[in-house]
This record gives sequence, structure tokens and C-alpha cells, in this order.
Amino acid sequence: MKTKILVTGAVGQIGSELTMALRKRYGNDQVIAVGHRKKPSEELLNSGPFEFIEVTNYDEVEVIVKKYDIGIIYHLAAILSALAENNPQLAWKVNVEGIAVVLEIARKYNCSVFTPSSIGAFGPSTPKDGTPQDTIQRPTSMYGVTKVSGELLCDYYHLKYGVDTRGVRYPGLISYVTPAGGGTTDYAVDIYYKALEDKKYECFLSKETRLDMMYMPDAIKAAMDLMEAEPSKLKHRNAFNVTAMNFTPEELAKEIKKFIPEFEISYNIDPIRQGIADSWPNSMDDSAATEEWGWSPDYGIEKMTEDMLKNLSKKLNISY
Ligand SMILES: NC(=O)c1ccc[n+]([C@@H]2O[C@H](COP(=O)([O-])OP(=O)(O)OC[C@H]3O[C@@H](n4cnc5c(N)ncnc54)[C@H](O)[C@@H]3O)[C@@H](O)[C@H]2O)c1
Repeated sequence: MKTKILVTGAVGQIGSELTMALRKRYGNDQVIAVGHRKKPSEELLNSGPFEFIEVTNYDEVEVIVKKYDIGIIYHLAAILSALAENNPQLAWKVNVEGIAVVLEIARKYNCSVFTPSSIGAFGPSTPKDGTPQDTIQRPTSMYGVTKVSGELLCDYYHLKYGVDTRGVRYPGLISYVTPAGGGTTDYAVDIYYKALEDKKYECFLSKETRLDMMYMPDAIKAAMDLMEAEPSKLKHRNAFNVTAMNFTPEELAKEIKKFIPEFEISYNIDPIRQGIADSWPNSMDDSAATEEWGWSPDYGIEKMTEDMLKNLSKKLNISY
């Protein structure tokens, strides 16, 4: 069995932490990180193999898969929701053609594939509260269109060719390590930086916008646990709803105020990101993930806020 792991989008918000977690669990030389144009951190570069590739280029991906005899691909390279709305053609190319390249190479070289979908794969006609695992998916953002396409392609390659494809629908992800990459939920990361730096934050979503969220350690755990799950237990393969908490900007600000009482939030709504957020669920039902592979998050809003502020204050050297 081929055991080497390839991580695309390794310099991104998830990839930078997932790569290090995979190296810790399976060994540094087992995990090949691939970036695109952005400079990787010293940690990522020095802890194991690192390459640059364009994921929409079949030959470039194939060269790396052959060179390292890859058996597992964590495919994270993508254009996120707000950026996708500004450049829909690029989003289609990277998010859809990219996964198509990865799946075809996975079929040819017998690799398993993990790819994240998103809450963005839902749309305004989806039930908003307790959004079921299997429900209406008519997204109105280009990001959503590409994410549903990716979910379907992964299912197709599993059903038609038996490729071991697996994936989750992540909610907004929050981390103190790598800044968010241009999504609609980025406010929930930026707010912590600004709370420490300026004691105030101007939010681009309205105060009552409720969205699912997750702290990065849980997101990493979800990816690795799903890839290690017993295949016979998986009724779904791709696009498992996973969530850890849901909150509004106002509720998050209230949590931060418990640690930084002088913190103030104000609002200056960005119509594009507000429009995207309004088309997404308030809260997903992730019971299929729990039943099929034991999904259970470790962090809620309180524990996450305490950990975020503790670690960011060290990183920024600002006490509170
Ligand atoms: N971060 C979140 O809140 C979130 C939520 C739901 C789903 N997701 C999904 O998780 C995955 C990873 O997200 P992330 O937050 O780490 O994104 P990110 O934007 O931080 O990282 C994506 C990486 O992909 C790389 N990339 C872009 N175009 C490329 C190309 N043509 N070839 C090779 N690499 C390219 C970028 O350089 C970047 O480092 C994506 O599929 C995203 O849709 C993320």
C-alpha cells in the first residue's frame, strides 16, 4: 500500500496546519507539501519535502505524484468565497478543473483523496436551521457552484471508478496560525486580531448574521479522522456536514468582551459578503458524520475564544 501523502494548498489557512499535523502523525518525509505562489513558512519548508505546482496543470500534478509515489492526496488548493465572487472564471478553473485533475490522477495512480466542500455548497432554498446532510443544494455564489460540482465529481469518481474519495463541508474556520484566505467568515478571525491590536473592530457582516463555525484543531481532526475511518461504515463518502458551533458577530463580540471589556464592535456591511452569508445555513445538522465516523468537536465558542486570545497575544506580543 502506498503511504506517502500529498497536500495541495499547503501554504493556505488549513494546509499550513494540516501539513504539520500530518507530519507529526505519519512522519516528516511521508508528507509532501505543495504550494502555489505564496512563500511558505520556514516551518513548512524545513520540516519536510516542499514543491510548487499549478493544480489545474495535469502534467505538473502527475510529475509530483509519480516522483513521490503518492498514495493519499489532501486536496486543499482553491479560491475562497469572496475572492471567487470577484473572479468567477478563476474560481471555476481552480476549484473545478483543479479537482478534476486531482481525481483523474488519483484514478490512474490509485490514490485516495480528501477534499473539503463548504457551507457554501448550500443556497437560499436550502432549509436554514438544522440543515440536513442530504437536502436542496442550489447555491447562488460562484464558490457554491464550484463546491457542489466538486462534491458531485468526487461522488462520481467513487461510484464509477471506485476511487476512495472522502470529504467534509467545513463551516467558517478560525485559527491564530495562518490568516484566512478571502472567505465570507474571515471576520471571525480578524476580530480577534483587532480586539488585541485596537480594542475595536468594524465588521463587514450584520450583527445578526448567524453562521456555523469551527476552531482549526477540530477541522484538522475532522480531516484526519475521516481519512482513517473504516470505509465500510461510510454511507456517505463526500461532503459530510461538520460543525462545532454557530454564532452571530454580536455574540462573538460579547464573548471577547469577557476577556477584553473595553472591546467594541461596529458594523459597515459589505453587500457582496453579506449576500453570500445570507444564502448560507444558520446551523447544519452533522449527525451523519457523528454516526458514520464518530465526529465530535472539542471546541465551542468559549473555549475557542480563550485559546485564540491566549495564543494570539503571544504571537502579537500584546497582553490583555
Ligand atoms: N477556511 C475556511 O473557512 C473554509 C471553510 C470551508 C471550506 N474551506 C475549503 O478548504 C479548502 C482550503 O481552504 P483554506 O482556507 O486553506 O484556503 P486558502 O485560500 O487559505 O488556501 C488555499 C491555497 O490554495 C492555493 N492555490 C490557489 N490557486 C491555486 C492553483 N491554481 N494551484 C495551486 N494552488 C493554488 C493558494 O495559494 C492557497 O495557499 C478549500 O477547498 C476551501 O474551499 C475552507
